[in-house]
Amino acid sequence: MAPAAGERGRLRRCGRRWRCGRGALIACAAWTAGWVLAAALLLRAHPGVLSERCTDEKSRRILAALCRDYQGGVLVGDLCEDLCAAGQLRYRRCLHYERGKKVLQADWRGRPVVLKSKEEAFSSFRPPGLLEDQAGKGGPDVPEAELLLLVAGEVRNALGLELSNRSLGPLWPRLRGPRWRGRLASLWSLLQQEEFVLLSLLQDLSRHAPPVLGSCGHFYAVEYLAAGSPHHSALFPLGGTSRGQARAVSDMALSFLDLVRHFDNDFSHRLHLCDVKPENFAIRRDFTVVAIDMDMAFFEPKMREILEQNCTGDEDCNFFDCFSKCDLRVNKCGAQRENSNLQVICDKIFRHWFSSALGGSTISLGLQLQLREAVQECADPGHPAGHPQSAPLNVFWKLQHLLQATLRELQEADH
Ligand SMILES: Nc1ncnc2c1ncn2[C@@H]1O[C@H](COP(=O)(O)OP(=O)(O)OP(=O)(O)O)[C@@H](O)[C@H]1O
Ligand SMILES: *[C@@H]1O[C@H](CO)[C@@H](O)[C@H](O)[C@H]1NC(C)=O
Ligand SMILES: *[C@@H]1O[C@H](CO)[C@@H](O)[C@H](O)[C@H]1NC(C)=O
Repeated sequence: MAPAAGERGRLRRCGRRWRCGRGALIACAAWTAGWVLAAALLLRAHPGVLSERCTDEKSRRILAALCRDYQGGVLVGDLCEDLCAAGQLRYRRCLHYERGKKVLQADWRGRPVVLKSKEEAFSSFRPPGLLEDQAGKGGPDVPEAELLLLVAGEVRNALGLELSNRSLGPLWPRLRGPRWRGRLASLWSLLQQEEFVLLSLLQDLSRHAPPVLGSCGHFYAVEYLAAGSPHHSALFPLGGTSRGQARAVSDMALSFLDLVRHFDNDFSHRLHLCDVKPENFAIRRDFTVVAIDMDMAFFEPKMREILEQNCTGDEDCNFFDCFSKCDLRVNKCGAQRENSNLQVICDKIFRHWFSSALGGSTISLGLQLQLREAVQECADPGHPAGHPQSAPLNVFWKLQHLLQATLRELQEADH
């Protein structure tokens, strides 16, 4: 059968080694499509295959190596005994591996926890250098003052903060006693993990950050919480009636606002969140929002350091959800962040909740429209031109007011 004129031109382009009948071409296309489809299905079912395997086998291997190091005296930690000897800290499943970051779910004395470490092997962390020489010679007699100075240096490295002796309290090592070298090495592996340092410092200062429950070597444990996901209709695992959902969403939104106010004002430096997505937040039973992934949270001094880069245009000044503007006179990005935590949360979280009808018709249409408008204004404050500095503050109070009104309305509907 002769190919039609149009097809003939196309077929002629086939290399001489290929027999390019039409049937062969169709078969070839079908074969390729089959493989593409199979690969797509496989990827959907197991998104891990392309990145790093997040298998139980590998996770158990990591923990077994941790316990070998513990038994060998290389590392210590208040959770090691439960994990490695008493069987009170049991691996459940792997939550996430990505370029080094290991996140495992476990049960600790009947309570679900998450074990985290930036690296899988203890040996991947830089040893405490100078101190180790002294430890080798003289044992645990390094002067406290010197040790404190070194810890402060590690904190400066990790967070870009100069902390007073008193603020270093939560990190202050209890190094006296047996296994001194192991304690020092374990502390050092943890101090190299920005998230651990941040969470430890926030330990008693913030209800929007998960407290560190303990550690073993380079792994630290935090409470397991109900994490968000773009696949939940309300972004966070809820349940219940539509009125219950509307109330839960309003409660969570108010808690997000409290988190924004808290991170903006309650520390000596503003805390910037540069990776805002549902997966990086979780909720407690009372709908308190908790920031569970703090790898991309930076205090003001570090934020300025990150943003201040060479540039030829504004697009060079974007750091995930944090950006500044390019000063074309000196080809340098401004050190001051241009957008805010509130703006990004409005854009990436609130917009999802409030751009469609909230909880069906349980909330009055007027309130729904006002909320939608306020969220729009908050996410995109550039548009109502005028006062870029004062606008975010106004929209903060506006949102809070509208959310409280929503809760009142829902409460009245209950009576
Ligand atoms: N405390 C927690 N409770 C419940 N789930 C958690 C907790 N911490 C982390 N997770 C889950 O594990 C996932 C990965 O954790 P985390 O975000 O800390 O790792 P990551 O490597 O920084 O991830 P990414 O950079 O992709 O956001 C989270 O998206 C979340 O679903
Ligand atoms: C912090 O502690 C060290 C060691 O104890 C001491 O030398 C230093 O003076 C203290 N600094 C302040 C500001 O208190
Ligand atoms: C930025 O630019 C300056 C001078 O224009 C140059 O000296 C410096 O190396 C650049 N830095 C980077 C990281 O490219």
